[in-house]
Amino acid sequence: MKTKGALLWGVGEDWKVEEIEIDDPREGEVTVEVAASGLCHSDEHLVTGGTPVESYPVLGGHEGAGVVTKVGPGVTGLKEGDHVVTAFIPACGQCMPCSKGMQNLCDLGAGLLTGNAISDGREWVKAGGKKVIPMCLLGTFSPYMTVHQASVVKIEPDIPLEVAALVGCGVTTGWGSATKVADVRPGENVVIMGAGGVGMNAVQGAAAAGAKRVMVIDPVAKKREWAMDMGATHTFANIEEATPAINELTWGRMAEKTIITVGDIQGEDVAAALSVTGKGGRAVVTGMGNAMNIDVKLSLFDLTLMQKDLQGAIFGGLAPRAAIPELLSLYQEGQLKLDELVTTRYSLEDINQGYQDMRDGKNIRGMIVYTDADR
Ligand SMILES: NC(=O)c1ccc[n+]([C@@H]2O[C@H](COP(=O)([O-])OP(=O)(O)OC[C@H]3O[C@@H](n4cnc5c(N)ncnc54)[C@H](O)[C@@H]3O)[C@@H](O)[C@H]2O)c1
Ligand SMILES: [Zn+2]
Ligand SMILES: [Zn+2]
Repeated sequence: MKTKGALLWGVGEDWKVEEIEIDDPREGEVTVEVAASGLCHSDEHLVTGGTPVESYPVLGGHEGAGVVTKVGPGVTGLKEGDHVVTAFIPACGQCMPCSKGMQNLCDLGAGLLTGNAISDGREWVKAGGKKVIPMCLLGTFSPYMTVHQASVVKIEPDIPLEVAALVGCGVTTGWGSATKVADVRPGENVVIMGAGGVGMNAVQGAAAAGAKRVMVIDPVAKKREWAMDMGATHTFANIEEATPAINELTWGRMAEKTIITVGDIQGEDVAAALSVTGKGGRAVVTGMGNAMNIDVKLSLFDLTLMQKDLQGAIFGGLAPRAAIPELLSLYQEGQLKLDELVTTRYSLEDINQGYQDMRDGKNIRGMIVYTDADR
């Protein structure tokens, strides 16, 4: 079918909304009418070149929710009309990592930026006859997408799709970074560096896990203010301001857990995180940086002698098929804030404004909400 999509044609370019063509669903695939898509920072790494791709154009977007409109052969557990959230890592349930309970590391993840369909390897999105690489095998910057069943998770139909989209990436990633990967325990001191669409949910996760102090570092004053509403107990503008305060608050023990959720992580951020992490503590790296950057700054002396733990995290260490419905059920019970995360809504045409607002620190999350005008 013909539809539109926000395409990126090269590093440093704006997103361009153009006509695209997507296949009808084949074996194991469904077509989804996308209702909303979050403007996650991970798509920005395509723009900066931090995340390199094999070819252009790229169809952006990986944090979405919508309604199934067509079902291909061999699809189980999904029918027309079902509401779904995208999983930016597909989970097949059968590969070695999936079988070991690490669905966030599913082997299908190897194809995330190839533009080749999970089902049969074909190129299924085109622009002017040219291959398009849909971000994370999804491409939610289009009002329609055809995706493999491993890439979507069915949800309850009464949850607003606009907030459901958030658990496709940012919420689950942040929440799991705190609750699963950092394994925050009641009474702990937690530092979160970067209070954006992901970090704000690390704040929610740490608070829900019973942290005594949730200490947020973010240079943007409004982010610090919002973080207090989401469960932070203290906020600081930068590491220089945070370090003596955390030292005093914890009587020199520093944080048991530190989570880095800055937008474009640099080597120095790792050193900063470890410096506010105490003996035997853990620093979790959730934010992404340039794929070519191998210059991480850290004190090896401190890492060894203080027995610190430096741990990466993808999708908050969680399984999409379990975490997405679980988090939405917490939202329904009033125990997870989602409405408050959507700061500004945009039409697809306004996507570049949405990303400019993200760079300017104006949004917790900007959200494309599709209307008939976009279709
Ligand atoms: N590991 C994963 O599974 C995963 C999933 C989603 C996103 N990400 C990555 O997580 C990061 C955050 O994404 P987001 O959508 O929340 O981005 P965002 O732009 O919404 O938020 C980033 C925040 O970091 C703050 N910040 C910038 N520099 C800082 C610094 N030096 N110290 C403290 N705060 C700083 C910004 O003010 C902003 O509030 C990105 O790198 C993104 O690609 C990783
Ligand atoms: Zn994301
Ligand atoms: Zn798998």
